[in-house]
Amino acid sequence: MKTFTEPKKLQKWCAAKRMEGRKIALVPTMGYLHEGHLSLIEAARKKGADEIVVSVFVNPVQFGPNEDYDKYPRDEKADLAKCRKAGATAIFFPTPQNMYLDAHSVYVNEETLSAGLCGARRPGHFRGVCTVVAKLFNLAHPHFAVFGQKDFQQETIIRRMVRDLNFDLEIVVAPIVREPSGLARSSRNTYLSADEKSRARALSQSLFAAQADVKAKKTVPWKAYQAKIVKKLEAAGLKVDYVEAVDGETLEPVKRLEKGVAILLAVYCGKTRLIDNAVM
Ligand code: PAF
Repeated sequence: MKTFTEPKKLQKWCAAKRMEGRKIALVPTMGYLHEGHLSLIEAARKKGADEIVVSVFVNPVQFGPNEDYDKYPRDEKADLAKCRKAGATAIFFPTPQNMYLDAHSVYVNEETLSAGLCGARRPGHFRGVCTVVAKLFNLAHPHFAVFGQKDFQQETIIRRMVRDLNFDLEIVVAPIVREPSGLARSSRNTYLSADEKSRARALSQSLFAAQADVKAKKTVPWKAYQAKIVKKLEAAGLKVDYVEAVDGETLEPVKRLEKGVAILLAVYCGKTRLIDNAVM
């Protein structure tokens, strides 16, 4: 497995592989890899990638001033071993200095889908995500890039960015990987105590219950149902940031829960902000 820290070197290597006719997959991550990330590498492998490039970069530009950039978990050595074992062929560990040169002044801003949900609560977050992902696309020029469904709004925004800026690649979305308790895998789960982890089960339980209700009743009025989910989350000791039902493509709020609608949740479990979602 090749290791790169210099953006230019990665770019050169990927360009050479492309010239040889190799199919390149990019798996962008912020590291501290868990089974969710490994499932993205597996999805790339299954889709027939010859080269799987995993980027590991805690992107400062997508964190707000009071967020967890400094304390975000990092373990390069473990990430290297996990990537090698999972079959990645290259790993990219840039530094903030070589990704954002002095006086960096160009950013990518998606203006519609980023307005609500996490975008409204984390100003500048998706501008940081789009900027770094666009840079990674330009460096690796992959045939496809794999993202997890856990970050539903992020994945929707990235697909829009690819469409609107004519990036020449395909976006592949891999399903959420959950812990046996139902909790969606996330590097931030490491912040949770055993008690918090147990309380956080209410997220996936609410989503699974909604899926079952939609299956049984076909369509359900959202407002009353939303209040029911909020009550359940609060009863588990979680502080609700938002609970929304949206159209899976436009992220527009919907009035009824029905097949194809996505429920997106964000809560604070102690000091840790957790997100989850499910498509009905
Ligand atoms: O989902 C993430 O881990 C990050 O937002 C991403 C896509 C790697 C960009 O930094």
